[in-house]
Amino acid sequence: MTVRTDEERALIAEAERLFPTQTRCLTFDPELNFCVGKAKGSHIWDVSGNEYIDYLLGSGPHVLGHAHPAVLEALCSVAEGGTSHLIINEQAIKLGQKIVEHIPCAEMVSLHSSGSEATFFAMRLARVYRKRDKILKFEGAYHGMNDYAMMSNQWTMGSPAYPSAVPNTHGIPRALHDQVLIAPYNDLDAAASIIAAHRDELAGVIVEPVQRTFAPKPGFLQGIRDVTANFDIPLIFDEVVTGFRLGLGGAQGLYGVTPDLCATGKAISGGLPLGVLCGRRDIMEIANPKRRLQMLPYSMQTGTFSSNPVCASVALALIAEFEKPGTYMRLEEVGTKVRKGLRDAIEHSGIEACVTGVPSVFEIWFCKDQPYDHRSSKASDFYKNIRFSDLLLKQGVLKAAEKFFISAVHTDEDIEQTVTAFHIALEQLEKEVA
Ligand SMILES: Cc1ncc(COP(=O)(O)O)c(C=O)c1O
Repeated sequence: MTVRTDEERALIAEAERLFPTQTRCLTFDPELNFCVGKAKGSHIWDVSGNEYIDYLLGSGPHVLGHAHPAVLEALCSVAEGGTSHLIINEQAIKLGQKIVEHIPCAEMVSLHSSGSEATFFAMRLARVYRKRDKILKFEGAYHGMNDYAMMSNQWTMGSPAYPSAVPNTHGIPRALHDQVLIAPYNDLDAAASIIAAHRDELAGVIVEPVQRTFAPKPGFLQGIRDVTANFDIPLIFDEVVTGFRLGLGGAQGLYGVTPDLCATGKAISGGLPLGVLCGRRDIMEIANPKRRLQMLPYSMQTGTFSSNPVCASVALALIAEFEKPGTYMRLEEVGTKVRKGLRDAIEHSGIEACVTGVPSVFEIWFCKDQPYDHRSSKASDFYKNIRFSDLLLKQGVLKAAEKFFISAVHTDEDIEQTVTAFHIALEQLEKEVA
């Protein structure tokens, strides 16, 4: 049972007073709200000492668990030589080499401080390349916090007519509202016809190859690749989640579809602020400052912390771990076992639910038919989803609001405890809604 100390209660109250985003625990139950004390491997502890098996993993980065020894060693060894220089450094160059080695579309690389920056710069480069402004994204996809990305993402209500975009937050300039076009994910015919109809206005198409927890239908990504290539419209893969999580080549390696640009970050960040943009040389070269002197179309890319040596050396250490045989096999094995345990618990409870995604990132939906995109997922009862997360949290299993992130360091004991928690939570939920 969770025991909350006065010290932790005071910290939570202070967080609520200071931060409009508060503690960021997405729970219906204030008693489950917590403040992190520490994290190690696949576990996280709150300030009161309650322990949780962690499937939030900092919103995805910790594919090898919290405080991995290789990350700690890289952090300590590089920091002595200075933490940030703006000017390029050996660690950043080595990271660039590794990105080009592993990510199929990568011919050149730029390093940033977040995934949101990487997607933002990808869209800007596409605009310069195409000399056009509009970006097509898919309904329900999340590409970060920049103004173009906060349109028709996973928090979109209703069913606005395609390709109209709706802003997901106040504060986005009105002038941008019609600069983003929306298509349904996993519906190749609909998406291809929107792209074809708007080809003369489009700067680029951005897609999460695995959108949230919806795997691409066979042929969908290749079809989007073909139609964009046909009109010379840059295709941007947002691999902020899938990059180095689905394998060294990310989703593009797994599905065999090569985009023109790719944004990635989380899995090689070790939890440090890192975003990576990579792609075709002729498009990436648009950021070369020499072009300004040559009066060529140019897009400036800078940031005080870009190419940061600490982030780069942590990323290098993690890539070295990912390159070891067995790392991705274990990740896949853990995910497969947890997903099977979840499916078995659903079947055993008799509750109407299904599981989407891929072994290392997936979700439960409380509906009869398996959702494949944003609109079909609305058949799911969102209340049950949050309640299920709370019932798991009560048993010491932490998940993200809308997905499970798996690590390669979850143990068989973790999996066993998690599956037991699934059974208890689903039985309780079934009773509550009966
Ligand atoms: C697919 C995707 N793109 C972009 C982002 C934004 O990345 P960051 O939070 O590092 O800005 C996220 C973050 O969750 C993401 O899931």
